[in-house]
Amino acid sequence: MAQTVSVKNTGLRGVTVADTKVSFIDGNQGILIYRGYRIEELAERSSFLEVAFLLLNGYLPTPPELKSFEQAIADESDVPEYIYDCMRKFPTAANPMDSLQACVPLLAMDDPDLKDETREANLRRAIRLIAKLPVIVAAWSRISNGLAPLTYDPNLSHAGNFLWRMTGEKPDPQTAKDLDCCLILHADHTFNASTFACREVCSTMAHMYAAVAAGIGALSGSLHGGANTKVMEMLLRLQNEPDVSNWIKNQIDSGQKIMGLGHAVYKTMDPRAKFLKPMATRLAKARKMEKWDDLSKLVEKVSLAEFDKRGKSEIRPNVDFYSAPVYFMMDIPKDFFTPIFAISRIAGWCSHIIEEKFGEAQEKPALYRPQAEYVGNYCGLMGCEYSPLSERPHPGN
Ligand SMILES: CC(C)(COP(=O)(O)OP(=O)(O)OC[C@H]1O[C@@H](n2cnc3c(N)ncnc32)[C@H](O)[C@@H]1OP(=O)(O)O)[C@@H](O)C(=O)NCCC(=O)NCCS
Repeated sequence: MAQTVSVKNTGLRGVTVADTKVSFIDGNQGILIYRGYRIEELAERSSFLEVAFLLLNGYLPTPPELKSFEQAIADESDVPEYIYDCMRKFPTAANPMDSLQACVPLLAMDDPDLKDETREANLRRAIRLIAKLPVIVAAWSRISNGLAPLTYDPNLSHAGNFLWRMTGEKPDPQTAKDLDCCLILHADHTFNASTFACREVCSTMAHMYAAVAAGIGALSGSLHGGANTKVMEMLLRLQNEPDVSNWIKNQIDSGQKIMGLGHAVYKTMDPRAKFLKPMATRLAKARKMEKWDDLSKLVEKVSLAEFDKRGKSEIRPNVDFYSAPVYFMMDIPKDFFTPIFAISRIAGWCSHIIEEKFGEAQEKPALYRPQAEYVGNYCGLMGCEYSPLSERPHPGN
């Protein structure tokens, strides 16, 4: 019988529930490592597909391995027609995260070896998901606007294809490279809420698609991946605000969150934000959109001063604070910011699901099953006496 430990109201902060070999965070020093490699080095020198290979396999690929991985992704970069047909029936106002979450189980229905639970079959599934999630997100952007989905262009990178299939315009190489870098930065982050959701679901022996659908649901919330859209909504609102400092002060005083700031693990600036901040400045200059860069920096400066005054110096920008203006300046609609997070994090989710399913970091883990203390209605172990519906008092009598 396992020892009972109470961690109520902590959101499991500081509770170690598993071993992992996929990634590592030092929250005090602001360090993020994928499979042993610093995020800064990968963001500068790697590509998203190389990082996806690294996360899935645990080592950097050789040139032929990378080529064959990229080809495998290219070969899977379409979805069955019935998925487009379903999307055409979705209400056009549907949020892209809901559309994405709805489509992932639809992919399961077309998996030729869904019953095969070997590691190899799960790796094939991971490749399908990494390839197809951007196709679904891009297709929803087209279909919800009454346009036909676009097909894969072999001359573009993974990120370039996503931009092309979403906007209908071939991206310039720098924009595609910048988005690729954003995908690297978001690809994994240890036991964040959505990854934990994926691992919890697959611990029941559910298949990878069911686990990923749960992860997408968890990511959509505004305290997690949904924060990037909220950051942009805040900036759009603040562009017409005569006194930004006062607005921020009031927001904090009234217990409201400043989106994109603070983190459950980092107690210093998120290393991903450190990378995205100069990217935002560069994009702003190149696209003559300095207004958004200036405004983001003002919000950061004022908020940090307010947090410092309140003794909360650990609240610093997280990944969403600067990814929001970066995506906005790439002309991506704000409701598609969180789906972009998903098309990157799918690499981490699948790596964690495989690790969980095959016990690759520890002895094969058990089904997750925490317990809760019952604080509801209680009439003893015999239960409360049931009164038939007709004998219950009518409200108002
Ligand atoms: C991410 C987040 C949930 C992590 O925070 P946490 O470690 O769970 O801490 P809490 O939310 O309990 O916050 C601790 C205190 O700091 C305050 N705080 C934390 N982040 C804040 C923010 N962005 N704005 C204002 N206050 C904040 C809380 O109000 C709380 O204050 P209190 O102790 O006086 O009640 C939190 O920082 C947040 O909500 N940030 C905004 C949303 C966001 O950007 N999410 C993306 C994360 S990558």
